[in-house]
Amino acid sequence: MRTETPTFEKQPTPEELENKTAEIMYEFFNKRLEQLAGKREIPNFKELNLYWTCIALDAEKLKNIGPDLVQTANRDTLKNLFLKKDYIGAPVDSYNKIAGQNLAAIIEQFLQQDTGAVHIADLGCGSGTFLDEMKNMYRDDVECFGVDPFDSNVPDTVNFGLGLAEVLPEDWDEKFDMITCFEASMYFLDKQRALQEALRAVKPGGKIFYGTGANNIAKNFNKNLFEKLLAAQKGFSSQKEVSEKYTYEMPKIFVKEKEYERTFRGSDAFYTQYYFPYLQYLESIDKERTALTLDTREFTVQRHDTPDMWCPETLQIERIK
Ligand SMILES: C[S@@+](CC[C@H](N)C(=O)[O-])C[C@H]1O[C@@H](n2cnc3c(N)ncnc32)[C@H](O)[C@@H]1O
Repeated sequence: MRTETPTFEKQPTPEELENKTAEIMYEFFNKRLEQLAGKREIPNFKELNLYWTCIALDAEKLKNIGPDLVQTANRDTLKNLFLKKDYIGAPVDSYNKIAGQNLAAIIEQFLQQDTGAVHIADLGCGSGTFLDEMKNMYRDDVECFGVDPFDSNVPDTVNFGLGLAEVLPEDWDEKFDMITCFEASMYFLDKQRALQEALRAVKPGGKIFYGTGANNIAKNFNKNLFEKLLAAQKGFSSQKEVSEKYTYEMPKIFVKEKEYERTFRGSDAFYTQYYFPYLQYLESIDKERTALTLDTREFTVQRHDTPDMWCPETLQIERIK
């Protein structure tokens, strides 16, 4: 196998190192996103690619990368370093997070229909604990698929795909009896698109349990951000004006390219374009109370309070036809 070692003529500056690593990650995620998208046009493809790269290049990891490592590591080593991002959250028993619902009972209902293994996908699966638990309980009766931007040692019992909830594999139309998303949606960049991807992937008669983190974060945990976003909605007419008002900057990667510089000037502004449509989308689901129609597909929606600090509410969505 051919390996490539990034080379520098002289000792690189920390910024050069960061840029080099970012380029490698960007290229890798770009390929992966292309695979997932298939023939589909993903409108915000480039932003998603950047977002994935940025979350991979978190500050902690960068601290551990000395010049020596970048000079000597080949592309695969670097890639693995970033992909094996340890998720050291408390082991969360996601299974119990659904208020008033027993997922086991729901799986058993599917099994009684005797249509083969129950297909379950968990979006933002982390270390795959929930799916592993399902697999241990039901063995051959369930097929488990996990999606996450990082592979945190997901056990072999789970079919794991590196990806984003916003771009599920193209061939996942109507593939799943059950889709879950616990304590993860607050991290998604394009929250509305992620929810719509879940709606695409569920079979008629299938169910989605979707923790909606954004409201909580916006209303309680980052009041400043929420207020800024509201101000941005009311008081500014363009992305550019918002960017100039709020000057928080993303890590200085890709700044060479003017296009990216524009995109990330003011990450609050960057988020505005995805945040608000999602909140409005959730509100519109609320207005309808119990029904949601999307491209002629019909769903019922119920909201449950969830004993979870980050995603205090779970949508229980059932696809009718
Ligand atoms: C707090 S952890 C929750 C993990 C697991 N669902 C649980 O309940 O234990 C949030 C997960 O969301 C993942 N994540 C972040 N952005 C994502 C995205 N755009 N699509 C899918 N997963 C994402 C993170 O990598 C992380 O594993």
